[in-house]
Amino acid sequence: MYIFFLLLSFSDAISKPLIFDTSSGNNRRQLNITDLAATMSKQLRDAIISLHAFTGCDSTSCFAGKDKLKALKMLQGDQDHQDTFSRIGTLETISGQDMQLI
Ligand SMILES: *[C@@H]1O[C@H](CO)[C@@H](O)[C@H](O)[C@H]1NC(C)=O
Repeated sequence: MYIFFLLLSFSDAISKPLIFDTSSGNNRRQLNITDLAATMSKQLRDAIISLHAFTGCDSTSCFAGKDKLKALKMLQGDQDHQDTFSRIGTLETISGQDMQLI
């Protein structure tokens, strides 16, 4: 999952079409990262990486009883949280104020 978020965030820097080939059991899917990235702002794509780290590693599908999809939907509709999560992804330490915001 982390690779998926990295591809989304850095898709601008890669001038070739990006396809993410994923499977679970017999279910194989190809996601067009280039297409998907075009539907999101750069800030949202950067914020998603921080949100993914904040809500736990790949083997954790939920955080505090809320699934990651719910967290992602919240992020899409909330400019303040997009600002905060995209900012903390660029910092070595998180300020007390940002800790409170997240
Ligand atoms: C993925 O999306 C890009 C941009 O819309 C498009 O050029 C490309 O053909 C698509 N690739 C596939 C395999 O669908």
